[in-house]
Amino acid sequence: MALVRLPKITLATLPTPVQPLPRLAAALGGGFSLWVKRDDLTGLALGGNKTRKLELLLAEAQAKGSRVVITTGAVQSNHCRQTAAAAARLGLRAILVLTGQPEAPQPTGNRFLMHLLGADIRWTSRETRDQVMQEVFQAAWEAGERPYLIPYGGSSPLGAAAYVYALEELLAQGPAPDVIVLATSSGGTQAGLVAGARLLGYRGRILGISVDEPADVLRPRIADLASQVLDRFRARATVAPGDIEVVDEYARPGYGVMTQREVEAITLAARTEGLLVDPVYTGRALAGLIDLLRQGAFPSGSRILFWHTGGTPALWASPYREALAT
Ligand SMILES: Cc1ncc(COP(=O)(O)O)c(C=O)c1O
Repeated sequence: MALVRLPKITLATLPTPVQPLPRLAAALGGGFSLWVKRDDLTGLALGGNKTRKLELLLAEAQAKGSRVVITTGAVQSNHCRQTAAAAARLGLRAILVLTGQPEAPQPTGNRFLMHLLGADIRWTSRETRDQVMQEVFQAAWEAGERPYLIPYGGSSPLGAAAYVYALEELLAQGPAPDVIVLATSSGGTQAGLVAGARLLGYRGRILGISVDEPADVLRPRIADLASQVLDRFRARATVAPGDIEVVDEYARPGYGVMTQREVEAITLAARTEGLLVDPVYTGRALAGLIDLLRQGAFPSGSRILFWHTGGTPALWASPYREALAT
C-alpha cells in the first residue's frame, strides 16, 4: 500500500548514509553485524533527527502563514538549534524558550549555535515553561505574526510522522535490520518508526534506549503518539504500550549526566570508526547498546542498526568537552 504523502519542505539532505561498523563490532567481540544510519548527517546546521521532523512541521507553519516559530528545550537542545537553523533558512523568526540558566561566561555547543543562528532566546524553568510559552505565543499573536508552536522535541504526531518516511528510506537502502536501536526522549522518533513498521510491514525490533524518563512513562506516551501518527496515514490500527520496547536502565544517572559508560562509548566509536556520538543522547544509547551486546542480548548473527540521531555539537559544550579532554 502506498504511503500517504504529507506536505513537506526540503531541509535535509536525504537519504542519509547507512554504514557498516566492522571495527566497533570486532572490538565488542563480533558474532553480529553492526550498522549505523547517519541521521547526524541530515545536513542542516550540523544535522540530527529534528531536521526530518521540521520538514513536516514547518510546511504546516508556512501553510498557516506563520512568521515566527516558538519552541522549547534544554540549554543544549539539538531540537532548538535545528529549529533556529530551519527558521533562518525560511526567513522566519525563532523564539526558543530554554529551561535552565544562561551559561557563563560564554555559551558553548548548541547554545552557541542558537546564538549564531539568530534565535531569540527566553529563559525559564521547567515549572514555568508552559506559562512562558503561552505568554510568548500570545504576544506574537497580538503582533500579527501568526506564531507556530512546536512542542518539546518536535514530537507532535505530525513531527513524528517524519520517521515513517525515514523508515521507508532505510528499508530501500538494503536488507532490513533485525534490530534498530536508538536514543529515545520525547519519543517522537521511536513513535514514527513504530508507526512506519506497521505501515511498511517491517517486522524487526525497534529498541529505544531512554536518555531520561522511566520506561513506564515512555511506553504509553510513544504508543499513543504512534497511534496518532497512524491516524495521519489513515490507518485504523492502534499501538499498545506493550508493543513499545524501551530500556531505561542507562537513564538512571539523569538527563545529561555523562558517566564513564558514555565516555567509553564516545571514545570507542571515535577510535574504532571515526564516528562521533554525543554525551547526552547518542553516547548514552550507544553505551546501552554496547552493554547489551556484551551481555549477548541479541541472537548470534543478528543484523543490528544503530540509528544515529545527531547531537554532536554537545561534544564541544561545557562541561562535556572538559571531561572528555582529560
Ligand atoms: C541527538 C538526539 N537524539 C535523540 C533525541 C530523541 O529524539 P526524540 O525526542 O524524538 O525521542 C534527541 C531529542 O532531542 C536528540 O537531540
